Amino acid sequence: MKIVQLSDIHVGSQFSEEIFDNVVEEVNDLGPAAVLVTGDLTNEGLKKEYEKCKAKFAKFEVDKIIAISGNHDYRNTGYLLFRKFFPFETINILDDDVVLVTLGTARPDRDEGEVGYRQNLWLERTMKKYPKSTKIVAMHHHLIGIPDSGTDRVTVIDAGDVLRTALSSKVDLVLCGHKHRPWIWDFGNLSIVNAGTTSSERMRGFFENTYNVINIEKNKIRVDLKIVGGKRFPLKDLVTNYTRFGEE
Ligand SMILES: [Fe+2]
Ligand SMILES: [Fe+2]
Repeated sequence: MKIVQLSDIHVGSQFSEEIFDNVVEEVNDLGPAAVLVTGDLTNEGLKKEYEKCKAKFAKFEVDKIIAISGNHDYRNTGYLLFRKFFPFETINILDDDVVLVTLGTARPDRDEGEVGYRQNLWLERTMKKYPKSTKIVAMHHHLIGIPDSGTDRVTVIDAGDVLRTALSSKVDLVLCGHKHRPWIWDFGNLSIVNAGTTSSERMRGFFENTYNVINIEKNKIRVDLKIVGGKRFPLKDLVTNYTRFGEE
């Protein structure tokens, strides 16, 4: 089964429309079970941005689109519009043995993210109901730091509590956005994946628009990075082949 993770679309300023149109074609060819969007669908949370974004997303030929909001979608009380334009469910059962749970980390008038005590407790209780499933958590803000993406923004402010919940609940995969920098931290049973930006000009440390293709077969997960209009390769190769800027 395939899930495509798009992130940081940023319809509005610095939106690359042509790139996004290519993404639609590529994803329709892939035929995933679901398209997940890990936030920042719009740049300023404005109605005209949501309208354009909705029209763009209507071109995906998939059964399920799970879109969660990011800090940019919250701007200008855009969170009120988000629910109207992109209603979604927090618990998604995909293909019988995969459960994908979303967390809301954006808050009004704030760029940093938070999961919060109650939502964290809810996550723990929810995951207990699916002992045999492959467990995926999706959130906009990053759960753990990522190289080359600047030090100006913190992770979700309660990252320690969420990480503990993820480990004790035997979560297999956490999917994040926000940093516009593709990356994977592989901790054995738990992998934490960050998506790059799918269609914003604002890239960090990896200067291509990308999305992730998540393959799940018999509880085995492989995450590929797909460069829009370019090659597809295991995301972990990006980590293995990492070099610092200016070094060979
Ligand atoms: Fe973003
Ligand atoms: Fe963001």
